[in-house]
Amino acid sequence: EKNGFDTFMLKEIHEQPRAYRDTMRGRIDEANQSVVLPGMHLTDEQARDVRHIQMVACGTAYHAALVGKTVIERLTRIPVEVDLASEYRYRMPVVPDHTLVIAVSQSGETADTLAAMKEAKERGARVMAITNVVGSSVAREAEDVLFTLAGPEIAVASTKAYTSQLIAFYLLALRMAEARGTIDKVMLVEMLALLERLPVQVEEMLQRLQPIEQLAHQITRHEHLFFIGRGLDYSVAMEASLKLKEISYIHSEAYAAGELKHGSLALIEEGTPVIALATDERLLEKTISNIKEVKARGAYVIGIALEGNMELAKTADHVIYVPHTHALLTPAVAVIPLQLLAYYTATLRGNDVDKPRNLAKSVTVE
Ligand code: F6R
Repeated sequence: EKNGFDTFMLKEIHEQPRAYRDTMRGRIDEANQSVVLPGMHLTDEQARDVRHIQMVACGTAYHAALVGKTVIERLTRIPVEVDLASEYRYRMPVVPDHTLVIAVSQSGETADTLAAMKEAKERGARVMAITNVVGSSVAREAEDVLFTLAGPEIAVASTKAYTSQLIAFYLLALRMAEARGTIDKVMLVEMLALLERLPVQVEEMLQRLQPIEQLAHQITRHEHLFFIGRGLDYSVAMEASLKLKEISYIHSEAYAAGELKHGSLALIEEGTPVIALATDERLLEKTISNIKEVKARGAYVIGIALEGNMELAKTADHVIYVPHTHALLTPAVAVIPLQLLAYYTATLRGNDVDKPRNLAKSVTVE
C-alpha cells in the first residue's frame, strides 16, 4: 500500500500533484472562469456581509491558516486573525458581529479545534471548516465545509493535507473575492490558470529534487538550526521548521527574517545551518541583507529561490530553485523541497519517519 515508496510520508509527498488536482476538481468552472464551491451554503450576499475572519487550528493546519490569512486579506481586504485553537478557546475571544470563523483540521477530530469552534459559535460567529475527513466531528460542527479531498494521510507528519489546505484557501479566497467584487476578471482568470498549472509544476519539481538527499548530509549532524523568511515565506518557514523538528528531532526555529537581529542572531555561530526562504521578489533585497548578516557570523545558508533568480546564489552556500507562479501561490511549491529536506534528514538519522516518537496522528484529547 506504500505504492513502491519506502514510507508513507515519501508516498504522500509524491501524491501532492494528485491531491492538488483532487482539491480543485469540480470547483473551477472553466466555461465561466469562476470558482464554485458546491458544499458551501454561504451565499454571495453572505460573503459580502463578512467583516471579520478568525481562523483556528493546531500545528500544521495552523500554518496553513497563516498562509490563508495573507491570501484572503490580499484578495478580499477582509481583516483576518489566526489563533491556535488551544489559545482561542480560553482567551475569551472578541467576536464582533459579521465574523466568519474558519476551523482548519486534517483529521477533523482535534479536540482543541472542536472546542474553539464551539466557543466561536457560542459567541455568535458563523463557523466554516476546511477538513480532509468527510463525516468528521469538525465537518459536522460547521455550517459550511470545504473538503480538501487529499485522500487518507497515514504518516504522522502532514504533507499533502497541508498543501491541499492551501489549495482550499486559494479557492475560498477567490470565491469570496468574486462575490465581493474585489478581484477583476483579468486577475481571476490569470490566477485560475496558475492554480491549475501547480500540479504539473510540482510533478516536474519532484523529479529534479533528488539532490536534496545530498543536502540533508549538511544538516543531519547539527543540533539546531534556523529557518528565516518574510511574508508568506515566513509562514512556510514555520511549517518547514515543524516538519524538520517532528521527524528529525533536530531543534529548529522559524524566524521572521527582520526579527533575527532582535535576539536570535546571538545564536548563529560558525556552521549553524540557516535555511532562508526568499521567493517573495518584493522583499528579496531585505531578505538578502538578512542572509548577509547570518553569513557574516559563519552560518551555512541554504536558500530557497524562484527559478531564474541570480541574486541568492551570490550569498547563499546552496540554492534550491522552485518554479514561478503567482506570489500568493508560491507556498504551494516552496514547501515541497523542505518537506523532502526534513524527510531525508530524518532518514539519515535512522528515525522512524512515519511514526515519530511521542506524537499521534490525531490529537483527540487536550
Ligand atoms: C504536523 C501535524 C500536526 C497536526 C495537528 C493538527 O505534521 O500533523 O501538527 O497538523 O495535530 O491536526 P489536524 O489537522 O488533524 O487538526
